[in-house]
Amino acid sequence: MAEIIVRNVRKEFGDFVAVKESSFTIEDGEFFMLLGPSGCGKTTTLRMIAGLELPTSGEIILDGEEISQKPPSERDIAFVFQMFALYPHMNVRKNISYPLVSQGMPRAQVKEKVAEVARILGIEDILNRPVGGLSGGDRQRVALGRAIVREPKAFMMDEPLGALDAEFREHMAEELRALHDRMGATTVYVTHDQLEAMQMGDKIVVMNNAVVEQFGTPQDIYDAPATMFVADFIGSPSMNFLGFNGTVSPGSGSVALNGCEMGVPELREAAQGDLVFGVRPEHIRLSTDGAYRGEVLATEYLGTTQIVTLDTPNGEVKARVASDQPAAMGETVGLEFNEQTVTLFDETSGRALRSKLNEGVLGHG
Ligand SMILES: Nc1ncnc2c1ncn2[C@@H]1O[C@H](COP(=O)(O)OP(=O)(O)OP(=O)(O)O)[C@@H](O)[C@H]1O
Ligand SMILES: [Mg+2]
Repeated sequence: MAEIIVRNVRKEFGDFVAVKESSFTIEDGEFFMLLGPSGCGKTTTLRMIAGLELPTSGEIILDGEEISQKPPSERDIAFVFQMFALYPHMNVRKNISYPLVSQGMPRAQVKEKVAEVARILGIEDILNRPVGGLSGGDRQRVALGRAIVREPKAFMMDEPLGALDAEFREHMAEELRALHDRMGATTVYVTHDQLEAMQMGDKIVVMNNAVVEQFGTPQDIYDAPATMFVADFIGSPSMNFLGFNGTVSPGSGSVALNGCEMGVPELREAAQGDLVFGVRPEHIRLSTDGAYRGEVLATEYLGTTQIVTLDTPNGEVKARVASDQPAAMGETVGLEFNEQTVTLFDETSGRALRSKLNEGVLGHG
């Protein structure tokens, strides 16, 4: 059982701020993702939760207890490293039992626990093998076994699959998620792979430049991105950004985008100036008529869908449409956007202007 609250946590290394005031809550039993580009502060955040770094300010609360200044040994949190450090001269059984033996647990009990963990991970048949000759996947399982056997309150995993090749990585990701679903232990998982975060996570924190940009379910983050950074980072191809200068007020219904009237979601407050229309590729329809037009620059066939790249008055736009939709190179077609699926952003702040539709969404703070 572990609920973890991170409240206004900040980390400085000398003059450098690695994590700015960050807040989010990890509920008991969640598979929780910390997602963001390299250097944004993911590992530092994870290390602060585990106690391997102390925050400069702010609080970390584990099951109601403030632990931010406590050493790792008093937190009961297991850390699974990317470069899983196993003891190469020991066999699998010894590697897994090591944390229990060093706690002074009686031998019979250690044996029982190791057998149980080996069964959960499906590695009973390799218990007596030295870890030196194992495949990457088996080593990863042994490293997990060593973390699980302690029965900690929560697991911290820093890009645990980063060293594996793509196909095997996907397999291990499924295995990890299934393992989590069986054990139900709170898990915090760092990744820079948005697809991995979307597929595996119950909740996601998106970080950028030491700041939490958004916190919510994969669906919140995909459907109602709080910032242009999140909108761009999540989804492939990324959201299209169509800039314009104008005024949108509650009830205005539409804006002029390069001379064409475009439907907009109803906003809570008026906005004016440099605004951006954000539209996901799958929310664009191509038509023969339509006032907002673009020339087909390229098409990319993906089986059931195709990605059509268009040259529009706002620059290149990518649309994901059915693969049988005619779109010949050089042809000029109309683009239609559904106002329900468009996000409006203020270009200067990069923040989403909230519509009535998505105002209930989590984490736009
Ligand atoms: N001990 C340290 N001393 C000084 N700077 C540090 C220290 N640890 C991390 N940093 C800096 O803090 C920033 C955030 O680092 P962090 O390792 O948390 O990023 P990350 O999001 O995990 O990146 P990556 O995806 O590359 O692992 C980086 O600029 C890093 O160089
Ligand atoms: Mg890192």
